[in-house]
Amino acid sequence: MTPLPYTPAKGYTSPKWARLSPGHTDAPSGGRLDPGQACGRGCYNRAVILAIETSCDDTCAAVVEPGGRRALSNVVHTQTEHARYGGVVPEVASRAHLERIDGVIEKALEDASIVLDDVTGVAVTVRPGLIGALLVGVSAAKGIAYARRLPLIPVDHLEGHVAAAYLAQPDLEPPFVALIASGGHTALYAVDAGGMRLLGETLDDAAGEALDKGARMLGLGFPGGPEISKAAEGGDPSRHEFPVGLKNRDNLDFSFSGLKTSLLYKLKALDEEGARRERPHLAAAYERAVVDALSRKLLRAAEAERAGTVVVAGGVAANGLLRRTLEGECGDRGLRLVIPPPALCTDNAAMIGAAAPLSKAVPFPGYLGLNARSV
Ligand code: KG4
Ligand code: ZN
Repeated sequence: MTPLPYTPAKGYTSPKWARLSPGHTDAPSGGRLDPGQACGRGCYNRAVILAIETSCDDTCAAVVEPGGRRALSNVVHTQTEHARYGGVVPEVASRAHLERIDGVIEKALEDASIVLDDVTGVAVTVRPGLIGALLVGVSAAKGIAYARRLPLIPVDHLEGHVAAAYLAQPDLEPPFVALIASGGHTALYAVDAGGMRLLGETLDDAAGEALDKGARMLGLGFPGGPEISKAAEGGDPSRHEFPVGLKNRDNLDFSFSGLKTSLLYKLKALDEEGARRERPHLAAAYERAVVDALSRKLLRAAEAERAGTVVVAGGVAANGLLRRTLEGECGDRGLRLVIPPPALCTDNAAMIGAAAPLSKAVPFPGYLGLNARSV
């Protein structure tokens, strides 16, 4: 078997974890720090969680306050190695995580003006995701936690996506209805103090996957969501009609496979020049069909659950058209809409730290046998 091409990361430097916390004696306030005040040299004077996320193709670390409502740093390294394949290659992702995880963690500590000695707990994504990729983060988290006798907090990636809303609006409290739309998942949940209850989900592709595959068919780059939005600028969304999956079904499920097939047939009917000319219109109509499906079912779920607040999370929540559409629709219905800023919608570790208070911490050293799970 031919090994996959692999380019070592540029600019990678090994971590300097040997640094120790200098203590509080030279703090700017003359040796005393207010709770939460960082002296910039490793004396944060308050519990902080180091959060790690490596479930797909972003190597992420963040420092978050234990309440999960404020991030002190949030470092994301998006792997560019996958662009040439038009999708994430699992083995390439694992190797790239391995190469960068130390540097990303170090940067997260540095950005938060703390050192490793200040960390009081380590949160990490344990499921769902690419198993090899998850294992890199889980192993790093176990190593750091074990060496410092810290508790380890295993976090579900999807709960993390929803928890990003708490960083965006720290006064947010359940109950609410949440839509998660990412590259791997598209689902609706009723969220209350007891956890998340599944209301409906995609029967085939995830919304992000439909955008990624659609972009590929249109000859655009990866990831497809932002590429389709860019290509759709100036396009007329009403020039082509795309099916909105399960549009009139009285349920809360989604389907995006018909949309994808429809694009394929539309493209087959065009020659090269026609496809190039129609690209902005096709991209605009395709994007609108995805947004229509998501907003329609989210609003239906809010009505069914009599929810006053809706949260939208996951990479697709970064989409401008979806955000604008929901702002209008929720405004009309008097619904509170919480969509985190785009950087907290796509994969990041701050959201994993935000979900940490909702997950059960495993005390030292009980987590050594803890495993990652792909589903
Ligand atoms: O949540 P995420 O970063 O990773 C997963 O957990 O899957 O989501 C990635 C997905 C990709 O399919 C990508 O095309 C989509 O989110 N995405 C977007 C935008 N930014 C990322 N889709 C639409 N518009 C965007 N601006
Ligand atoms: Zn995700």
